[in-house]
Amino acid sequence: MDVITALTHRGSTRAFLRDAVPKTLIASILDAARFAPSGSNIQPWEVHVTQGTVRDAIVTAVTEAARGPTDAHTPEYAYYPTTWYEPYIGRRRACGWGLYSRLGIIKGDHVRSQAQELRNFCFFDAPVGVFFFLDPALTVGSWLDTGMFIQSVLLAAEGHGLASCPQAAWLPFHRIIKSHLEVPLERRLVCGMALGYKDPQASVNDYRPGRIDAQAFTTWHTDAAPP
Ligand SMILES: Cc1cc2nc3c(=O)[nH]c(=O)nc-3n(C[C@H](O)[C@H](O)[C@H](O)COP(=O)(O)O)c2cc1C
Repeated sequence: MDVITALTHRGSTRAFLRDAVPKTLIASILDAARFAPSGSNIQPWEVHVTQGTVRDAIVTAVTEAARGPTDAHTPEYAYYPTTWYEPYIGRRRACGWGLYSRLGIIKGDHVRSQAQELRNFCFFDAPVGVFFFLDPALTVGSWLDTGMFIQSVLLAAEGHGLASCPQAAWLPFHRIIKSHLEVPLERRLVCGMALGYKDPQASVNDYRPGRIDAQAFTTWHTDAAPP
């Protein structure tokens, strides 16, 4: 698969088949993603791949925690601003309601909304759960590097016929995750990711949120005529 096809075909999958993924395939994906760029080539990302017992234990523990009082669990970093504003709030709402309407969840249906949110914590049934960590002393540049690495994993997965979903939903539960993975508490959890084979029957996977045109975020400073 060429890179443009991988970029345009990748989408976040939220219903997976339970079919096991060979460890060699996951290793091939990481082997390709390791060529991601990083400032001064420091390659700061740390990756934990979970399958089987450890994956299942994290799923059980975090699902239970997520059903309890949510203020008991706080993320280590603010992925989102505390106060939303346009144009981001509009895009965020369009994404959320687009997904929920695909699932038949109407506004105010808190029971089904929470049930869908909880689906994050079984990796949407994907048999592979991946967690990305960083050394806490590293700075914003390394977060940028790790983002590029994560996108490389997503694209390599696409190239190898696997589906994926990056997941910030795990962030409040970093303590539980670290204890299961025996990761030192001071390590920073950057993101989680579900990895596996897409369930072709699940309509939720047909949801493809739109994108703004490149001209909306690009300012040209060029002698050539704009495209
Ligand atoms: C860092 C990151 C974290 C995300 N966290 C979640 C998540 O916790 N749960 C979820 O369902 N989708 C999550 N997403 C998926 C986004 O909603 C998705 O990328 C966006 O709507 C664009 O859709 P697409 O990936 O299908 O192109 C996350 C995406 C990124 C990049």
